[in-house]
Amino acid sequence: MSKDSIGRLIVVDDEVETMRPVCEFLSHCGYVVSAFTSGKDALEEMSERIPDLLLTDLIMPEMDGITLLRSALEIDPNLIGIIVTGQGTVQTAVEAMKVGAFDYILKPLELKLLRQIVSRAMNVRRLLETESKYRSIFENAVGGIYQTSPEGRCITANRAFALILGYSCPGELITKLEDMGRLYAKPGRRAEFIHLMQRDGIVTGFESQVYRKDGSTIWVSENAVSVHNTGGELIYYEGIVEEITMRKKAEEELKTSREQLRNLTAYLQSAREKERMYVAREIHDELGQSLTALKMDLFWMHKKLSGDQKALIEKTKSMLKLINSAANTVRRISGELRPGLLDDLGLTAAIEWQMGQFQRRTGIQCELVFEPEEIIIDQDISTALYRIFQEALTNIARHSHATTVKIFLEMKSHEIALNIKDNGRGITQENIGSTKSFGLIGIRERVRLLQGEVEISGIRDKGTVVCVTIPLSGRKTPV
Ligand SMILES: Nc1ncnc2c1ncn2[C@@H]1O[C@H](COP(=O)(O)OP(=O)(O)OP(=O)(O)O)[C@@H](O)[C@H]1O
Ligand SMILES: [Mg+2]
Repeated sequence: MSKDSIGRLIVVDDEVETMRPVCEFLSHCGYVVSAFTSGKDALEEMSERIPDLLLTDLIMPEMDGITLLRSALEIDPNLIGIIVTGQGTVQTAVEAMKVGAFDYILKPLELKLLRQIVSRAMNVRRLLETESKYRSIFENAVGGIYQTSPEGRCITANRAFALILGYSCPGELITKLEDMGRLYAKPGRRAEFIHLMQRDGIVTGFESQVYRKDGSTIWVSENAVSVHNTGGELIYYEGIVEEITMRKKAEEELKTSREQLRNLTAYLQSAREKERMYVAREIHDELGQSLTALKMDLFWMHKKLSGDQKALIEKTKSMLKLINSAANTVRRISGELRPGLLDDLGLTAAIEWQMGQFQRRTGIQCELVFEPEEIIIDQDISTALYRIFQEALTNIARHSHATTVKIFLEMKSHEIALNIKDNGRGITQENIGSTKSFGLIGIRERVRLLQGEVEISGIRDKGTVVCVTIPLSGRKTPV
């Protein structure tokens, strides 16, 4: 319908005398009127530009009103046709109604009545246009749209919904699918849907596996609402369905690959830990003991030397010094690889020792608070906490510019907590979340494997805190 006028009309009558006053009157009412004395000309105009309404005489020499209306309705099924007819041809006018005429008017035309009928016809035209617009949206929607009765019978479905479920058209789906509840692969899924509907009146992102017509299954996501009548009674559910099989598959693959990656990390960590333990023991026991033996032999030789063998005495002295320094290096390396303290004296002693080393090396003041005095826990937890502590200290030395570090280690009945707090420049949010922060990722992974929690936070120029909590009981085997 044209925006500027209240409607566009085509008037067809072979008698110009009858037509002229009608056209003038309708123009005066605000309609845009085009007049034709032949049906053919009118049709030509209509195929160029569709009017809102066709007002045509019934009996005309070249093309009668019914033929004209039938052809016009082929061009636009929503066109409103009104047939004007003489008294004697009422029967034919009734036939016209069957073709699809909106109404008929008897001659001679009474203008007031004509105005009423045209105005009513225009309202219907507007309704039809709106309806056809929404129908087109419904029918051409990419998502599946449905309405079902509370009992699960499908009342309405669009083409997309039928195709998603493997039916050729909505009609087939509506007749064949008697109960929507049977769509769901998981028993009780429909009941869950109804429960949510009764509770909230709406469901969003309701993901389910459903059967297609051929028995195969797909994943869909539904958004639906319940629709009630004015009396508050539930009349139907209305929903939009989207197929998400590919997304589900991708999610599943991602989950599996994450799990594999996590298992691999866990495996690598434990392999690395075992390797370190082995190397530390070998260095400590083999190399360390050889050096001790060498030192004792050399000492024995040194004692055997007489006072006038000055050069040899000096040589053995410097050799002893060298052996001492080599023994210290061996102890340091094996200690760093796997502090014997961790196994022999426990976590607190190992942390104290590591903290002392760190303090000496960096000059950063450290303070350790622990509770209780003796902490006895599983080896996997103490190893994880010790490695986390080492990583946190290394980070402090490398990135923080801190001058003090406070370490807090507390064991309660059900969990153990380790907090490391520095007063440096403060870690940024970007660093915390970065996929390249492998040190931090390693901390998180270790904690995750033990079903614990970790929180890393920083305040600019105030410092960084790493808080780790590990549960001591009720741990499940990680998947
Ligand atoms: N205590 C801290 N104070 C300030 N910034 C920190 C602190 N700890 C970590 N960061 C920042 O977070 C980043 C990520 O730390 P992460 O330990 O993951 O990596 P890294 O230490 O740079 O390398 P590596 O993989 O060898 O550990 C660091 O590069 C640093 O910018
Ligand atoms: Mg690091």
